[in-house]
Amino acid sequence: MSKNQKEEKILSAYEKAAEDGIDPRCIPQRLDMPVPEHDEIVYPNYTKEEQENWKYLYNRQMQYLPGRACDEYLQGATQLNLSSEEIPNLQVLSQIFNRITGWKVARVPGLIHEQNFFEMLRRKVFPSTDYIRRKEELDYTPAPDLFHDIFGHMPLLTNKSFASFYQMFGEAALNADGINRKYLETLHWFTVEFGLIRNSEGIRIYGAGILSSLNEVQNALSNNVEVREFIPEIIVEQDYDVWHLQPILFAIDSFEQLEQGFKDWTKKVGIL
Ligand SMILES: [Fe+2]
Repeated sequence: MSKNQKEEKILSAYEKAAEDGIDPRCIPQRLDMPVPEHDEIVYPNYTKEEQENWKYLYNRQMQYLPGRACDEYLQGATQLNLSSEEIPNLQVLSQIFNRITGWKVARVPGLIHEQNFFEMLRRKVFPSTDYIRRKEELDYTPAPDLFHDIFGHMPLLTNKSFASFYQMFGEAALNADGINRKYLETLHWFTVEFGLIRNSEGIRIYGAGILSSLNEVQNALSNNVEVREFIPEIIVEQDYDVWHLQPILFAIDSFEQLEQGFKDWTKKVGIL
């Protein structure tokens, strides 16, 4: 098999799922026009039902987070003034990030192509949707929505080490190809989406895929999960299945470790 053929075979987990006939909303779209960023973002006219869906999801998920979510996440949610009252305004969130870590928010139409995604991260821009799942999808939605993007991802972007790691991630991903792109996707999965962290009281959650999912938040700290050490060289080789509860997760000791560990690994493989 030639190098090119080999590289063609490397599909992301979502691309594989799309090939298998899974929900078309999960197929990433390439942005062909600039999307609104920061001050350009307009708050949508949400219906009463959409506001109720946010309130329901926020309250249901938040009750599981004390003692489960890491302190940095909970502090971030407070800094962003997240509450059950109202769907947050992306423009206001963008202004808060900009003051704290220099990040901004862009409003995107759905799951975006990885090239667009990495370019935004490199510029310290977090792409977020501004629509919320429908009532019949409250328990599970395969497609990204604002509950996952805002409630799951945004609180940690107030943390300086995490924000620095995420910016480097975008930069490294743009320099990577072939197997290193695949490795980065796996690393993203086991950190940004499904990461755990140890503190003095035990293991806590920081991954957005866990924090925004009812089933994952109950599963992640249970005996069903084997927790392993954060070693990038080992994580990148780990298989995972995006459609089922995770049986293996990795725990960092601090966000400084995540930032430094990532930097060391990318230097070693020559992508930063
Ligand atoms: Fe996510």
